[in-house]
Amino acid sequence: MPEPIVDDSQATQSHKSVVLRAPAKLNLSLVVHGPQPNGFHQLETVMATIGLCDELTLSFSEQAGIHLHCHGRDCPGGEDNLIWRSANLLAQFGKIEPAVDIELQKRIPLGGGLGGGSSDAASCLMGLNQFWNLNLSRQELAKIAAKLGSDVPFFLYAPVAHCTGRGEIIEPLDARCTRTVLLILPKLSAPTANVFRHYRYDAEQSNLLAQQANRLIQTGDLDSLVQLGINNLARPCFEQFEPLRQIKEDVEGLGLKPVCLTGSGSTLFATFDHVDSANEWAEKIPQHIDVETLVTHF
Ligand code: C5P
Repeated sequence: MPEPIVDDSQATQSHKSVVLRAPAKLNLSLVVHGPQPNGFHQLETVMATIGLCDELTLSFSEQAGIHLHCHGRDCPGGEDNLIWRSANLLAQFGKIEPAVDIELQKRIPLGGGLGGGSSDAASCLMGLNQFWNLNLSRQELAKIAAKLGSDVPFFLYAPVAHCTGRGEIIEPLDARCTRTVLLILPKLSAPTANVFRHYRYDAEQSNLLAQQANRLIQTGDLDSLVQLGINNLARPCFEQFEPLRQIKEDVEGLGLKPVCLTGSGSTLFATFDHVDSANEWAEKIPQHIDVETLVTHF
């Protein structure tokens, strides 16, 4: 199991609570192949977690059920939240009558391609596996995770992995990306299904990009990989969300290149050798463009 980043120091016999950190991810590269009969597209992507995290606290509830309380950034509550659904699925699988309070401190923006909801769900699975003493293996959790969403299994194998299939076939990588990350967070979200719907498959182009990415993945050179900015979903995302295309163009107009898109968007990012340059850009960009910026690391 990867670092679930569980802190159960607050646990006592009668009142156990478990604190989990759920990191966001960036796609270092994302190649999309053709749509499959099941409606999903075949992917080849390298994902890596970053320092931006949500936080979940699990504790026993006096009342039966799964009680989710959200704080921080706006996000759906109750059954509409992947956390609730992951807890419910795990309870069914483990034949548990749940009685759990889940406090969510939401810091990762929704609909930003940062995998926040998927990461929350994976952390919840890992935490409740421990909390309910189910002792399920990572493979068993991954099967449940895949039912929740294509990105969820990755977070069980984080921090860095090559993901294929519809995203749920995970090969963890030993290589790491050492560059500093600047996140550029626009005030709009890009629903994943919309972006995929507007994707036009070009087999020759996808195969070429996959070959280019695979050469660097094989040598473990993830610093070079991320600087190529390979993302087949960038075009359909920018075509559909014109204000986002404008933001990218404006940031590049200030002299920062390349500006990449993570996943299906809407988060843009750039990477740097030195944290000082990242901090300078983090300060400069919002003076000209209506976005939030955040400096973090892989
Ligand atoms: O699996 P997830 O719920 O994240 O997928 C959201 C939507 O994104 C899917 O309903 C599908 O339209 C699209 N998708 C896809 N191919 C993938 C992953 C997602 O077409 N590999």
